[in-house]
Amino acid sequence: MELAHGRVRLKPLASLGRDDWRRVHAHFRDPEIAHLNGTPPNRLPLWLLRRMLQADARRRDRATYGVYDEVDAFIGTAELYDVTPVDATLGIIIGERTHWNRGYGPEAIEALLRHAFEALGLEQVGLHTYADNPRAQRAFRKVGFREVQRVTHRGGRTDVRMILVRAVWLARRASRDAPLPAPVAAGR
Ligand SMILES: CC(C)(COP(=O)(O)OP(=O)(O)OC[C@H]1O[C@@H](n2cnc3c(N)ncnc32)[C@H](O)[C@@H]1OP(=O)(O)O)[C@@H](O)C(=O)NCCC(=O)NCCS
Repeated sequence: MELAHGRVRLKPLASLGRDDWRRVHAHFRDPEIAHLNGTPPNRLPLWLLRRMLQADARRRDRATYGVYDEVDAFIGTAELYDVTPVDATLGIIIGERTHWNRGYGPEAIEALLRHAFEALGLEQVGLHTYADNPRAQRAFRKVGFREVQRVTHRGGRTDVRMILVRAVWLARRASRDAPLPAPVAAGR
């Protein structure tokens, strides 16, 4: 099932085309993106990476999507993983640098959150990011996540855990959808 929010559409990983998979491969090999994601740059050939990600995406505790912009260009991947009846963990890679800092990440996250809280009925969505990734923290805060824990590992990198609970997401959505107050007439 496709998800959508704003300019962005999320399509199940199984529906990615050949060119989309080339972009996934490039994103996973990119040293900067790998660092932001806390993994070593991927060295697998495209066919094997694709097979592994497709197998992961078939797990019952995952919902993995390709992210597409308003002209249907593939720009990254987003997923819920470790999905239980009550919570899940969110991961996102907008791999196209041309699309960083332009609001595509938060729109893709909003689409995933609606799926998590409405379709799956979860109580909480959490995530892990790094203190040295202020762009990600800013994007996650914009959609309502709040920091709940910071742990500095022996290697020196600090892990930031953020969560968003259903009640907060619903309240934010209600205030966003509320009609604007009527303008006060001048001179009264
Ligand atoms: C993290 C990511 C999902 C954010 O999505 P995005 O579409 O780029 O997010 P936004 O458009 O909201 O931009 C991020 C915000 O951070 C701000 N920002 C960018 N670089 C920043 C920096 N170095 N310090 C502080 N703020 C920064 C931007 O100005 C913007 O805020 P604003 O809208 O208030 O101006 C996306 O950039 C991405 O996938 N990056 C590569 C992989 C990655 O980091 N994944 C997350 C791993 S946990």
